Parts: sequence; C-alpha cells; structure tokens
Amino acid sequence: MKTIRIGFLGLGTVGSGALAALTAEREAIARRVGAELLPVRAAVRDTERHRAVDTTDLELTTDTMAVATADDIDVVVEVIGGVGIAREAVIAALSAGKSVVTANKELIAKHGLELFALADKHHVDLAFEGSVGGGIPIIQPLGSGLTANRVKQVVGIINGTTNYILSAMTRSGQAFDDLLAEAQAKGYAESDPSADIDGHDAAYKLTILAMLAFDTAVSEEQVCREGISSITPADITLARNLGYRFKLLAVAKDRGEKLELRVSPCLVPETHPLANVNDVFNAIFVEAAPVGQVMFYGRGAGADPTGSAVAGDIITVARNLGRGGQRSYPLGFSGHRTVATVDEIESSYYVRMRVADRVGVLAELAGILGSHGVSIAQVLQTRITDDLTAGLAELVWITHDTTEANIRASLATMDGLDEVVDICNVFRCFGVDA
Ligand SMILES: NC(=O)c1ccc[n+]([C@@H]2O[C@H](COP(=O)([O-])OP(=O)(O)OC[C@H]3O[C@@H](n4cnc5c(N)ncnc54)[C@H](OP(=O)(O)O)[C@@H]3O)[C@@H](O)[C@H]2O)c1
Repeated sequence: MKTIRIGFLGLGTVGSGALAALTAEREAIARRVGAELLPVRAAVRDTERHRAVDTTDLELTTDTMAVATADDIDVVVEVIGGVGIAREAVIAALSAGKSVVTANKELIAKHGLELFALADKHHVDLAFEGSVGGGIPIIQPLGSGLTANRVKQVVGIINGTTNYILSAMTRSGQAFDDLLAEAQAKGYAESDPSADIDGHDAAYKLTILAMLAFDTAVSEEQVCREGISSITPADITLARNLGYRFKLLAVAKDRGEKLELRVSPCLVPETHPLANVNDVFNAIFVEAAPVGQVMFYGRGAGADPTGSAVAGDIITVARNLGRGGQRSYPLGFSGHRTVATVDEIESSYYVRMRVADRVGVLAELAGILGSHGVSIAQVLQTRITDDLTAGLAELVWITHDTTEANIRASLATMDGLDEVVDICNVFRCFGVDA
C-alpha cells in the first residue's frame, strides 16, 4: 500500500486533535484512502513541551520552513495560526508542490486569493474546512453539494465565545462584563477577547463563506462589523418579552446588484432555529434555490471537532494524491460583486429610547419614522417607575425592513426633540419580515 507522508506546522489544540483523529482510525482511514497516512514530522515552538497527543513516532522540530518544504513530506498541515510565519510557510509549501490543509480563517480571509492562485499554479490542493465552524462541514457542502444553487443568503452563528456569553446573559440576566470574566476563567474566551467580542473572528469566517456562496472575491475589510459589548441586561429582557433572543449573526446576502456583508448583534425570533443555537455551538443557515433552507449545526471549536475537520481535509487531499493529483481545491472565486455600504444595509431594527411620558409623544415619534419610510412592526411602551416625578417612559420599536440610512435619519430627527431624553440602544433584527 502506498504511504502519504504528513507534516504538521503546529501541534497545539487543533494540530493535536487532527493527529489524534488520524491515529485513532488509522487502519479504517488507510482502507478509505487506499494509502497509509503517516504523520512524520511537526514544527512547534517548544519541542520539550508536553503534548495532548502521543508524539512518539513523530519528529519534532522548531524549523517550520524545513517541514513546509521537506522532500519526504507530501501534505503540509498548517495549524499555527495568524498571518506571519503561517503565511510564509504555506507559500513555501505550495511553491514546493505540496498540498496544504489549514484551519486558519485569518490567513484564508486576508490572503486566500493569493494562496489559491499559487495552489492553482502548482496544481495542488489548498483545503480549509476547519477555518469556519470548527467540526461542522460547511466549506465542502458550499463548494460542492450546494454548488448547483443560487444562494440568497448565508446566516451564521460562527463565534462560540460570543454565543456562550449571549446565551448566559439570556439565561441569568447577568451583565456582559461579568460573563466575559466567567468565560475567560473557563477558557472559552482569550485574555485579549477583542477578536471574538468585537466580531473580527466572525468577519474572517463570513468572508470565507461569502467567497464560496457567491463565487466572488471579497475581503474581510468589506464586512460591516459590530461587537456585542453594548448589549445590556435590559435589552436582553425586553427582547425576550417581545419574543426574540440576541445572537451575534454573520450575514452574507445577495441583494441583486450588491452583496451585503455584516457581522452584528441581532434579535432573532425565538421560533427561528438560529435562536435555539446556544453556548459554544455554531450554526450556519443557508437559503438557496432550488434547495430551499438548509442548516448546519455542531460544535464550532475545540480539539476534537476542529481536528475532525482538519483530518477530513487531509484524507480528501490524500485521496486526490492517490488518484494522480486530481484536485478538489482551489475553487473559483472569479466573480466580482460590489459590497453594500453600512447606509445601504437593509434590515429591520430594534430601537430602545427614553421619552417624556406625555400625550402625543408616541404619535409624534411614529410620524417621524413614517416620514422616513420606516414602518413599525411592534412597539412596547413602559412607564419608568424608578423616579415617577421624572415622568419618563421607555419605548421599544421593532421596525419592518428598511435601510440603515432611513433609521439613522429618523433617529437624528428624534434626537433633536425635547421629548426624547436619550436613545439607549439600536440593534438589527433578523427574520421579522421573513
Ligand atoms: N482552537 C480552536 O478551537 C480552533 C478552531 C478552528 C480553527 N482554529 C484555527 O487553528 C489554528 C491553530 O489554532 P490552535 O488553537 O490549535 O492554536 P494553538 O493551540 O495556540 O497551537 C499553535 C501551535 O503552533 C505552534 N507554533 C506557534 N508559533 C510557531 C512558530 N513560530 N513556529 C512553529 N510552531 C509554532 C505552537 O507550538 P508550541 O505548542 O510549541 O507552543 C502550537 O503547537 C489557528 O489558525 C486557529 O484560528 C482553532
């Protein structure tokens, strides 16, 4: 039986998970591939460090470029992360004619086009299933099983840290800062959590999903991005009273002329399947024709789920090598679409404000929304009882779909009124007009 030799760049959480998956099913995988997959070498930062996986049969080295270009390695697995040494090593491996498997969303989102062109030039695969959704197969389905479809939208909960925090806020009513500290203590959030809570991680993943879904070159800088830190327990409670749950949604939508790409906290109707994706689980909802609605659900991170995705890619790439270099990747991304600006985003909106509790205020504000073409789907008015002498009421509006420009113009007009004390928070909603 032929042997296909694997070199790892990095052997941390994901690298160890992938190695463990290959080892646990070694014989069955060899039968499925028609060749033995043999991990031979791994480049790491510290060769003496204790590993979560048995490395007895593996040569450990700190020379990353040597592993990336070694003559005795057929497939290179990049699981270092970032766009420094990881990018250099992937370029070196592809240039040396080796197929590459990576779980690095930042690398694919920022430099994917350059790397796909390089893979194409050298007739090798560049596979990246682990880069989005951890263990959930979504890259292959979008690139093959759904490829006969016209995708209307892809909507994902694709960041486990923010979903853990929002699920806990919904359950316990605790504040964002407290739950972030708890997530950090449990290892679900990094000590510098900005990549997750500010939506950068989800924006990288959305870029990759959009490239696949719409066969077009887009960059992560084109994603309109907002994080979750402004959501308060009051917003969570009000949303729940109105029948919604907060989720950080990554949305890529075909708007005809333009593509809409955004990552932001959204109110999701509690009857929608995405509203029930909780804690560290991820889900990706695809609406396309002719297939209709499809949802992919599973664990979005961690050694075992992501190791499964990376090992699956290694097997795909190895099969292709066994068949004389037939390729599954790279995919096209040849189209060019304009991306909508923030003002052009179309959504329904949640607006929470404090106003004077006086006759005619509600009608006046509704009139302002109407004059900007914004139609109201739901409204909730509550008298503020903390200080009755202040005579204030809290108003929550849920609008029908409109443009962000219309909402901003309405709020600018309202903000100038004496009756409006403050506009507390504004969020997008999903599925109100579905
Ligand atoms: N963690 C997840 O659940 C998850 C899920 C999906 C995708 N990903 C992606 O997978 C990739 C890896 O993430 P991870 O969580 O596995 O990271 P990790 O646990 O920090 O592991 C990184 C590995 O890279 C090695 N490394 C770092 N710098 C190096 C260098 N200059 N030269 C050689 N080796 C170096 C480290 O060596 P030492 O072990 O010696 O320190 C370590 O083995 C990232 O792109 C990440 O975004 C992660």
